[in-house]
Amino acid sequence: MVDDTGKAGHSLWGGRFSAKPADLMQAINVSIGFDKRLSSEDLAGSRAHAAMLAAAGIIPAADEAAIQGGLDTIDGEISAGTFPFRDAFEDIHMNVEARLSELIGPASGRLHTARSRNDQVALDFRLWVRAACDRTEAQLRGLQAALVEKADRHAGTLMPGFTHLQSAQPVTFGHHLMAYVEMFGRDASRFQDARARMNECPLGAAALAGTSFPIDRVATARALGFDRPTANSLDSVSARDYAQEALSAATICATHLSRLAEEIVLWTTSQFGFVKLSDAYTTGSSIMPQKRNADAAELVRAKASRILGSLVSLSGVMKGLPLAYGKDMQEDKVPTFEAFDALGLSLAAMTGMIDDLAAQEAAMAAAAGSGHATATDLADWLVRTLGMPFREAHHVAGSAVKRADELDCGLADLAIADLQRLEPRITMDIYAVLTPEASVASRDSYGGTAPVRVREQVSRWKDLLK
Ligand code: ARG
Repeated sequence: MVDDTGKAGHSLWGGRFSAKPADLMQAINVSIGFDKRLSSEDLAGSRAHAAMLAAAGIIPAADEAAIQGGLDTIDGEISAGTFPFRDAFEDIHMNVEARLSELIGPASGRLHTARSRNDQVALDFRLWVRAACDRTEAQLRGLQAALVEKADRHAGTLMPGFTHLQSAQPVTFGHHLMAYVEMFGRDASRFQDARARMNECPLGAAALAGTSFPIDRVATARALGFDRPTANSLDSVSARDYAQEALSAATICATHLSRLAEEIVLWTTSQFGFVKLSDAYTTGSSIMPQKRNADAAELVRAKASRILGSLVSLSGVMKGLPLAYGKDMQEDKVPTFEAFDALGLSLAAMTGMIDDLAAQEAAMAAAAGSGHATATDLADWLVRTLGMPFREAHHVAGSAVKRADELDCGLADLAIADLQRLEPRITMDIYAVLTPEASVASRDSYGGTAPVRVREQVSRWKDLLK
């Protein structure tokens, strides 16, 4: 039956061939090296397909039983690492079928009735991407939980808020961390959206046009956890937009991770000194003994680029491809596998770092009070207390900053006489708003940095993540 010497052409499609492929043909064509990662999806698809074929009376029940038994054996061999993956059989689909033939003989030949590798790979890959989306979503929820936990502890911990990486207004560390909880929440919902759209079963599209056999596509769709079968056979074998969409979601998520990673890199420098990572998440230098590098954060930052590269790579493969299947599409897998491997590792490392990091509250608070970060509070006080138009108040506050710079002190250190020289109606009350504590407490608008608002969001997310 099966002959991998290729003497009479390829054993699985060699009917009209009389010579085996050139070595280079095989080298460029072979995909088993990477699509072996679709093994469990391929087996699941074959099990569902065989069961449906028997139920519909397309193949004899006894052959179906033999096929299921053979697939179980193959499953066991793959788990045990003893399955013979062979380049001669090109891809996972033909490797499984060839092995099935060795195990159960002629009955194996009935499995491919009403099926093509085109709908087979479309199914396997869709199942893989769907599982990757689910895994990623679960990891995102774990990361969010770690962030919420830290934010809860630091709902009142002062730190400088930045724009342009210049000290802008004081915020709390909890508020800053909760910003990422929002981002990762949107990322998780993007994976949910992508999953819902991709959850249609392409099996039964066969090569491209459907099949003349009386198959039951609803049954296979249901058996494989899909909402329904896909509605157009050409689209079924041509579509890879679900993978593009998952990679888009992955790219956006990786972008968010890279921003947090960059902040961890900055915060752990001795210049910032806002957080410390333990030895578990730090590496040393082989030459500079003082070094403690946040390598994991740097790598998360860099992996975002590779994940974006995967999206660009797959989009490039798909661009301009005529319907229906083209072998180009075999190149969908490596970038997608790589991207989700990198994303999975990044999410795990980031969750580990968030759990691990220790906020250096004194350094953060000192920085929160520097850089005249309460200048806006001074202006707001003039507006609120004296009824001054904001533009005018901004001008007065700017003059106060200038005076403080001349005297090399902070705004809160200016004498009342200095302030009154700029605006005679200023009273001692103003000092109450010039501390970072007062500043953050006052920003209690919905979604603001006031500790009460941060705690409100922490408890909302704790409920959502339950
Ligand atoms: N290894 C192929 C892929 O990954 C499977 C489909 C091959 N189909 C075909 N008609 N040659 O896309």
